[in-house]
Amino acid sequence: MPSDKIILGFETSCDETAVAILKGNDLLVNIISSQVDIHEKFGGVVPEVASRAHAESIRNIFHAALNRANLQISDIDLIATTDGPGLVGSLVVGYNFAKSVAWSIDVPLLTVDHMVGHLAAPLIENTEMKPPFISLLVSGGHTQIVLVEKWGQYTLLGTTIDDAAGEAFDKLSRFCGFGFPGGPAIQNIGKDGDPNKVDLPRPKTKHEYNYSFSGLKTAATNFLNNLDSKDKVTRSDFAASYQEAIVDSLMNNFIKAVKDTGVKNISGGGGVMANQRLREKINTFGKENNLNVYLPTPKLSTDNAAMICIAAQNNLITNELQLDDVRLSSVIK
Ligand code: KG4
Ligand code: ZN
Repeated sequence: MPSDKIILGFETSCDETAVAILKGNDLLVNIISSQVDIHEKFGGVVPEVASRAHAESIRNIFHAALNRANLQISDIDLIATTDGPGLVGSLVVGYNFAKSVAWSIDVPLLTVDHMVGHLAAPLIENTEMKPPFISLLVSGGHTQIVLVEKWGQYTLLGTTIDDAAGEAFDKLSRFCGFGFPGGPAIQNIGKDGDPNKVDLPRPKTKHEYNYSFSGLKTAATNFLNNLDSKDKVTRSDFAASYQEAIVDSLMNNFIKAVKDTGVKNISGGGGVMANQRLREKINTFGKENNLNVYLPTPKLSTDNAAMICIAAQNNLITNELQLDDVRLSSVIK
């Protein structure tokens, strides 16, 4: 894959309408149009509302991306789009739009798994990241420890048996009226709080690398329901303690997996990887153990289309595919 090929990427699996353009190592444009304002009043993403909002805005965002990159549609060499997992109605909007554009300008279409996008996101700013590495993928729907021995060869070492880490933030935030999405709201409210003030559990599961967050959420809501004014716990202390419990739980299994496998490169991705406390702990762990740490910046941790472009580019490079190979196997059905 010649490095000057221009990839146009779409990502609409949840509540962000995102379009990006990547040329070689240069991210020319990365537009993320969030629907947070629309879903805020419901305290969560409403799937039907999300797909309609994608349908209303995707065309304008696509044109804005071309304008900002100062490109014509005919300059695009390849189109990449998320094909799942995610909200079906939302995925269909982005996928069909991408397919139509590919069809109209006669370029190949490459589909990308959303979690593979998160996995590849650190490559945007760290072209040197190479397997073998272990990635902690933490989003609103997934919590995974993935061992990448080679690109394309992914071993799921651990996953959640109930709520995802992002869900644990979002659900408690809704219960407390802290705001939506819950992760940034709890991080913000807890920023000056005492993370050790409230004693919350760090749940374990039978499987050494799996996660469980539903018990933590119940413990936190029970604590609030039985709160006595003499406890002197502030909102900020409570938020900081809850965040600390999630981050500690994530770190415990991740550290174990890294030590057990002996890998020297660690990475992460997904919306929860935007969390400052989690980033701090991963960076400290990396430094103390002489590991290379590759974390996408917060903007590239939450959903975006740049990660879809880079995952597509990485697929072409590692599998030595030419655009014509993609065209032949293209999903334009
Ligand atoms: O990857 P993502 O943007 O969308 C999904 O694929 O789900 O992740 C969204 C999740 C939400 O649960 C949100 O609360 C969480 O990421 N999140 C955070 C932060 N920013 C977003 N969680 C903790 N701290 C943050 N700063
Ligand atoms: Zn995501």
